[in-house]
Amino acid sequence: MKGLILSGGKGSRLYPLTFTNAKQLIPVANKPVLFRVIECIRDAGIIDIGIVIGDTAPKIKQAVGTGDRWGVNITYIQQDQPLGLAHAVKVSQDFLGDDRFVMFLGDNVIEGGISPLIAEFADSNWNSQIVLTRIEHPEQYGVAELNDDGSIKQLIEKPKEPPSDLALVGIYMFDHHVFKAVQAIRPSWRGELEITDAIQWLVDNHYGVHPYIHEGWWIDTGRPNDMLEANDLVLEEIEYDVEGYVDRDSQVGRRVRVERGAEIINSVVRGPSIIGENARIVNSYIGPFTSIDHDVVVENSEVEHSMVLENSRIQDIGTRIQDSLIGRNSVITKSPIKPKALKLTLGDNSNIGIL
Ligand code: TTP
Repeated sequence: MKGLILSGGKGSRLYPLTFTNAKQLIPVANKPVLFRVIECIRDAGIIDIGIVIGDTAPKIKQAVGTGDRWGVNITYIQQDQPLGLAHAVKVSQDFLGDDRFVMFLGDNVIEGGISPLIAEFADSNWNSQIVLTRIEHPEQYGVAELNDDGSIKQLIEKPKEPPSDLALVGIYMFDHHVFKAVQAIRPSWRGELEITDAIQWLVDNHYGVHPYIHEGWWIDTGRPNDMLEANDLVLEEIEYDVEGYVDRDSQVGRRVRVERGAEIINSVVRGPSIIGENARIVNSYIGPFTSIDHDVVVENSEVEHSMVLENSRIQDIGTRIQDSLIGRNSVITKSPIKPKALKLTLGDNSNIGIL
């Protein structure tokens, strides 16, 4: 089997973070979502992985490289415009050939244990397998309606009135018949070739599409709150591991990871939390549910339930920072210059809540 990861797209719901970087490279518990997806496919024993890339191609290539770090071979597939998930399949036909494949959305995080599912598809005679999960607001996703015997009746993309609570998780398995489907369908009202329409075409044309209902968690990291939620869920799995330096005046909780070169000085870190390589936490309070990325400095400040990305600096902030997603190289400091006022340099579409 081959793997296909979709890592193009616009990422507009995560502006301004995605003005300067690919959303698939935003780290959850300090590891980019895309790396987690590569590891998930590799753990299923798949070596040949294609990554569909768009405008952020240079960033993705620089971060992922050839794949040898994971023991896989990466092939990059350029998609000139984000014309839909089924369009991404279409442009990958040369890479995929006649092989069966698993397709992952590069911005989705799923609880482990799906290797058996992929292996099951590899050995089956199904033409496709889709993964469904029960969620509260399915209207934002592709939704499946099943027949009484568990087979698929219909699939609808973002329905106003969902016929069920079964959303399509961003993992799909196909054989080469999917290329007939993506050739046959037409763009939807939003101008995209929808993967749900391609799967519906397979169902309508009597190909075997097997629905699997996933019981664990799954997060589509499309919006900032989803990122924080994914971060919470991944941090839940963190175990105590201190490779950095913790001084005698600090308290570090049981579910905290302090990575190499990090320093915790006169501070409290409540788990689950992760402190990245070479980060410095001085006279501060961190956590719970907080990811501090590599080379971040937090001094005389409090940060709770937040993600602070690489090289940022938070210093002398009198108010606790909470429920926040802070992009790379950000600086948040108290200014000594009068008058006492907020001085902000913000990217377009920034979102700040002030007391
Ligand atoms: P989406 O989240 O549906 O789309 P997007 O990335 O354009 O985000 P937004 O709606 O915020 O602008 O995409 C899901 C995944 O698939 C994501 O990793 C990007 C990728 N993708 C492609 O590779 N090609 C495409 O044509 C589309 C639409 C998405």
